[in-house]
Amino acid sequence: MEKKSGFLVAFEGIDGSGKTTLSRLVYNALLERSIPTLLTKEPGGTPIGQKIRALVHEQVLTPQAECLLFAADRAEHIHHVIRPALAEGKIVLSDRMADSSRAYQGYGRGIDLTFINTITAWVMQGIKPDLIIYCKIDATTAFNRIAQRKQELTIFEREKRLFFERVIQGFEQIYSADRQDLMILDAHLPSETLCTQALQELHKRLENSL
Ligand code: TYD
Repeated sequence: MEKKSGFLVAFEGIDGSGKTTLSRLVYNALLERSIPTLLTKEPGGTPIGQKIRALVHEQVLTPQAECLLFAADRAEHIHHVIRPALAEGKIVLSDRMADSSRAYQGYGRGIDLTFINTITAWVMQGIKPDLIIYCKIDATTAFNRIAQRKQELTIFEREKRLFFERVIQGFEQIYSADRQDLMILDAHLPSETLCTQALQELHKRLENSL
């Protein structure tokens, strides 16, 4: 496939929505078709970002510090990973991007959305996802999935149910308007089905070049 300016896809959703599994499945499917693709994530898509991720997971921070650390992670990620990969013409799949800050720090922690939007625009240097895939799921299903995981829970996953519900409401609000750059998936469906739907959408958007 010949693509010159790359294509950025952000996978968004609450913890337990299955977006990490989905982004991996899509990544593998694209690689199988020999399409130059990069799979990355926020937080933790760069070496500095991995340190930031450890910091935000280790302890409960003030909402302000947390918000700025996610922005710092995003700045490094955009500069060192996303922009270069797009310049190489790759399809870039990012497990979370700026809408996670809007949903978690904005709606979840109550930080002013205008402020978040200003910092986000500053760190993203004009880069925006070409497509956002929102894995939509209800709080109970997400909670049950998280509880079944063997790994230790993150601070965010341990948060009270109310916080979690505020974050879901946030995502719902953010994705309530009809938008060209948005695909909403029913994340209760099996991940293979979601992968097929995501690939069909990518196929359509990349002018049937997949
Ligand atoms: P992590 O364990 O990296 O992965 P996952 O995305 O699979 O949950 O956890 C990241 C946590 O950070 C997650 O609970 C959402 C939260 N987060 C924010 O609060 N704001 C942000 O801007 C981002 C990118 C993530």
